[in-house]
Amino acid sequence: MSGTAPGRAPGAGGAAGPAPVPPVALVGDGLPVPCVDGAERPYLSLDTAASTSALPQVAARVQEFLPWYSSVHRGAGHKSQRSTAAYEAARAALMAFAGRSEDDVAIICRNTTEAINHLAYRLRLHREDVVVTTVVEHHANLLPWSRAATCRYVECGADGTFSVGDVVAALDGGPAPRLLAITGASNITGWMPPVDEIAAEAHRRGVPVALDAAQLAPHRPLPTSPDFVAFSGHKMYAPFGAGVLIGPRRAFADGDPFLAGGGAVDLVDLDEVVWSQPPEREEAGSPNVVGAVALHAAVDTLQTIGWPALVGHDEEVARRLRTGVAAIPGVRLLGPPPGAATLPVATFTVAGMPHALVAARLAAEHAIGVRHGCFCAHPYLIRLLGLDDAALGRFRGQVRQGDRSAMPGAVRASGGIDTTAADVDRFLDALARLASGEPAPVEYRQDPRTGDYHPAGPAGAAYTDLLAPSDGHGGCSPG
Ligand SMILES: Cc1ncc(COP(=O)(O)O)c(C=O)c1O
Repeated sequence: MSGTAPGRAPGAGGAAGPAPVPPVALVGDGLPVPCVDGAERPYLSLDTAASTSALPQVAARVQEFLPWYSSVHRGAGHKSQRSTAAYEAARAALMAFAGRSEDDVAIICRNTTEAINHLAYRLRLHREDVVVTTVVEHHANLLPWSRAATCRYVECGADGTFSVGDVVAALDGGPAPRLLAITGASNITGWMPPVDEIAAEAHRRGVPVALDAAQLAPHRPLPTSPDFVAFSGHKMYAPFGAGVLIGPRRAFADGDPFLAGGGAVDLVDLDEVVWSQPPEREEAGSPNVVGAVALHAAVDTLQTIGWPALVGHDEEVARRLRTGVAAIPGVRLLGPPPGAATLPVATFTVAGMPHALVAARLAAEHAIGVRHGCFCAHPYLIRLLGLDDAALGRFRGQVRQGDRSAMPGAVRASGGIDTTAADVDRFLDALARLASGEPAPVEYRQDPRTGDYHPAGPAGAAYTDLLAPSDGHGGCSPG
């Protein structure tokens, strides 16, 4: 664990002590990393929308718990009992964090993607069933629905937003939908649809609502209006592999579960199974107890800090980041205007410079980590970039040939609880230098298989030798 990075409050170790005030340093913040000029610079992660480092409180809770780790729900031993208690306490804390009642149940799973796939299976959809969803969604909230049912999509405008009326029109189009699946916040623009108003319209029509809260959960109180909600620990400072699906208990009371196996059954004979009641019915196999403990510590810490401080910090970072990006000549901010209420996310293009090169230069020359590509939300990015069918057809053909060198995309900088004003200014300064045409200190070569750029020549070799070798797989921006 690094020391406290400049400008950030130390993260107190245990639950005791005064609540830290954002910005709060995360585990590993400010670690020096190598750059292509041979110097080391403190690493700046502006990729929190992808994954976050751990809160110190989360790391401390995991450390405290590990000596007590054992199997849950399966052992009479003291450690098993303690682990079971910790796991069930985590479940209760997640329910409270999401503002849920006893009528609901929290199913602990791996992440939002698994949670939504789990739900799509459990709703027993048929191809002729209609799910209304939106073009703003992450693939995690598109593909499970389009695989199981027929989707009707809410379109967005050029600024990447839609209105409540647009959702109502999709709900009212025939045939009547079985579900509305919607994001709480976009992972590309940070835009937050008015979920409560939208859910009220869906409920007025008897349509249940599933909320993808992967981005929203670390930044805003979760709306309680949707029937189902899913979020991931690794996006909210608990990167230990647990996520959650919460929904009405009755939705999981009948039928066979998503995963079949041990722990989900009361009695098994070779020709008959008596499934347990939820949540156990939905959690076959040995659960991720450490992940659940970490997620519990994360929601405890966020609640101790309190939403007013968290939201105030987010708004300040969002304003500084987005107005700063939009003001740089040659840089185009995608989505709503810089002053709009969004999460602290700025996705942009730089005139004349491929997105993958911008990201590579920010990393290699400035030690700044951002994401580039299409952010697992291709339909949304295609719309934000304004690509037409002819361009799309060309890209599709190239990708099918294994050539990703001309893949469309953008660059995303995203902040979180640890982002300081100085971090944002450091990033804006680096971006302005790149956008102004500052020559690169080394040559960069593109790997057509991934589309990524890597520094070349002796300096580049010294830099890339420190990193994982690429065999064409695992590029920076798969969908
Ligand atoms: C809006 C949104 N939904 C869903 C996901 C999928 O989350 P996970 O990878 O944790 O399953 C992401 C991840 O980036 C996301 O941003």
